[in-house]
Amino acid sequence: MKIIVTGGAGFIGGNFVHYMLEKYPDYRIICVDCLTYAGNLETLNSAMDNPNFCFHKVDITDREAVFSVFKEERPDIVVNFAAESHVDRSIENPDVFLKTNILGTQVMMDACRKYGIRRYHQVSTDEVYGDLPLDRPDLFFTETTPIHTSSPYSASKASADLLVQAYHKTFGLPVTISRCSNNYGPYHFPEKLIPLMIANALNNKPLPVYGKGENIRDWLYVEDHCRAIDLIIHKGTVGEIYNIGGHNEMKNIDIVKIICRELNKPESLITFVTDRKGHDMRYAIDPAKIRNELGWLPETKFADGIQKTIKWYLDNRPWWEHIINGEYRQYYERMYLNR
Ligand code: NAD
Ligand code: DAU
Repeated sequence: MKIIVTGGAGFIGGNFVHYMLEKYPDYRIICVDCLTYAGNLETLNSAMDNPNFCFHKVDITDREAVFSVFKEERPDIVVNFAAESHVDRSIENPDVFLKTNILGTQVMMDACRKYGIRRYHQVSTDEVYGDLPLDRPDLFFTETTPIHTSSPYSASKASADLLVQAYHKTFGLPVTISRCSNNYGPYHFPEKLIPLMIANALNNKPLPVYGKGENIRDWLYVEDHCRAIDLIIHKGTVGEIYNIGGHNEMKNIDIVKIICRELNKPESLITFVTDRKGHDMRYAIDPAKIRNELGWLPETKFADGIQKTIKWYLDNRPWWEHIINGEYRQYYERMYLNR
């Protein structure tokens, strides 16, 4: 089996590459990534020596380059992780989100149509459903919850989902879509809540919590997401959408306090800053479909996952220190200095 993994130098794609190489020693894993600020070849260091792995530095919006990878590799399956993924950046500059997340998806699917494919899998997000109110803990996102987006990021992901469904209905492309909740774990870029708080706490820097920190996210350890996608591409039904989430809802402020406690840092580092524009209040996935149809259940409890994650950041300081000492610094100052 040959699998193209786009965005494999990023957080979840990188974890997926390692997961698949270990689980399927006879598969060929082909990573396609153009290495944006969020892509990092250091994430793939250990894969580079594996003869079953190869890397193509290609932008998924570059039709010619993508087609030439397909011509050379003739993949059976494509898993499209490549995206601009950070909500705050999409508020700053939506352009590249629309280009990569929508047009890039189109190019990948056109290549699948031209060269033939067993499965095209689109990695989407629970953010396409918009948010839920804090005072209705009985409500959850199901696969039939209407799309109702808040940020340019989520609007671009929802647009891509619609396009994927259109390519299935119109051209018969064998697609599946997964919509996952917030991931955490190794190789998470330190602009996102959990790794940012770990890195700042370790450097005794302020921990910037948006608004009152009351917003709720449904956190899932990244390996559980990788297992879910593995199941969907092998056993999922073509044309279907699968929600992925672990019923692990937590307020942002509680997450930050846990990180302080685990690192033995004072909560006085916590600083409340101006809220994100259009900030979604609560995400919560109902994973009944993937549980009932594919037998998926999350395996890592948050208490264990956060400890493993913190240990990874302690053991892999060079990985994230290279990032926070590089061009990321300018983003951080722009985003947080006068907040
Ligand atoms: P990330 O930002 O860490 O990584 C994105 C990767 O895509 C990077 O390696 C980057 O270089 C690459 N990329 C970006 N634009 C590209 C382009 N035009 N051509 C080729 N490569 C390109 O993202 P992530 O957090 O790992 O998210 C991966 C996917 O999962 C995204 O589609 C995201 O929407 C989705 N998702 C993320 C989460 C989460 O909690 N992080 C949850 C649900 C869904
Ligand atoms: O739900 C899935 C989504 O989760 C993915 O589709 C996105 O790609 C991914 O980035 C993530 O989006 P969020 O906006 O939920 O993640 P982020 O880590 O940016 O923020 C999590 C929460 O923490 C959110 O309520 C905003 C808040 N926050 C974030 C940052 C970066 C802070 O309070 N302070 C911060 O500095």
